[in-house]
Amino acid sequence: MSVTITPVDPADDAAFGAWHHVYETSARHELGEVATPWQLEELRAMVQAGGSHSWSGAWSAVVDGDTVGAGWLRTPLLDNIELAELDVHVLPALRRRGIGTAVLARLDEEARSRGRRVLTGLSSWPYDAGSDGAGAPGPEFARARGFDLALSEVQRELTLPVADDLLSGLADNAARAHAAYTLRSWSGPVPDDLLQGWAEITSTLATEAPTGDLELEPEAVSTEAVREREATIARQGRRKYNTVALSASGEVVAYSDLATTVHEPGRAYQWGTLVRREHRGHRLGVAVKVAALRLLQRERPDVTRLTTYNAEVNSHMIGVNEALGFRPVARLGDFQRT
Ligand SMILES: CC(C)(COP(=O)(O)OP(=O)(O)OC[C@H]1O[C@@H](n2cnc3c(N)ncnc32)[C@H](O)[C@@H]1OP(=O)(O)O)[C@@H](O)C(=O)NCCC(=O)NCCS
Repeated sequence: MSVTITPVDPADDAAFGAWHHVYETSARHELGEVATPWQLEELRAMVQAGGSHSWSGAWSAVVDGDTVGAGWLRTPLLDNIELAELDVHVLPALRRRGIGTAVLARLDEEARSRGRRVLTGLSSWPYDAGSDGAGAPGPEFARARGFDLALSEVQRELTLPVADDLLSGLADNAARAHAAYTLRSWSGPVPDDLLQGWAEITSTLATEAPTGDLELEPEAVSTEAVREREATIARQGRRKYNTVALSASGEVVAYSDLATTVHEPGRAYQWGTLVRREHRGHRLGVAVKVAALRLLQRERPDVTRLTTYNAEVNSHMIGVNEALGFRPVARLGDFQRT
């Protein structure tokens, strides 16, 4: 069997469609109904986006003219310039024949040529397989190829709508502890007057949330990157629902954001939730999360499933999520090789 690894042009419908088919089939094979693969147009917009903050590329593994493996690589450009994020998928029927290894080798070569020293990859497996994913294809492949599990996460799901009295009870209880702060919620792009504060607080999520053994630097603060990402989000068919908490002086000190996509009617994803260190202890985390969820429920009564991911050790955020009714459905591992 001879495997050829070829770059995929996102503008080539047939090649990109075949690449996405492998990725989606593989992801659904691992998790079935709770899988959360990116939709074709979402990935196409991301790979085409370019922009100042990151670069992405896609490769297919082709055997006898058929696309059977899919690889993806992303490199941040403004920060974490030694890091490359990757993903590898192989059609279930053609696994254990070295195709995943061939795709990984090509991604590795590309990452090195771009000066990257740290490789990370996400892999999902069923919840019951436990935190280390022993026996599951992704974790076993990653370990066999020299990656270590740097962070264990749990995927949780919530059926919407959450009862209004539960949400108003949580919001009122939090409000008593955060009287000195105000909340602002909106859907769509960040209002101009909040842009700088939003760029600052969201840039800290990757390093302020638990990172396990991941070698991550804080992200660069860039209002231009916020606007570039929003343009990509619009091209992807996504819409954001957001809440911030402002201190008495008007500083953005906490935020929470959710996203929906036209390509998956009825579903929404929790993105970040963060409270600046100096402002913790005032129930702002619950406050912004509940406010963003209430906004989503008001504007999008069609959404019935919300998905979130948390580090296994993030007991505070998990406590908030469980109070809302989230239930664990799968595991996600962040694997790293340096
Ligand atoms: C992970 C994945 C890409 C592996 O593809 P593949 O073509 O089967 O990989 P390879 O044949 O190159 O496997 C290389 C080695 O990894 C290990 N490995 C791979 N799958 C394994 C499994 N299910 N159980 C145990 N070890 C496994 C083995 O050591 C294997 O070598 P061997 O077959 O000689 O024993 C594929 O299972 C997949 O698409 N999984 C879902 C997506 C995913 O989790 N990707 C990882 C993202 S980092």
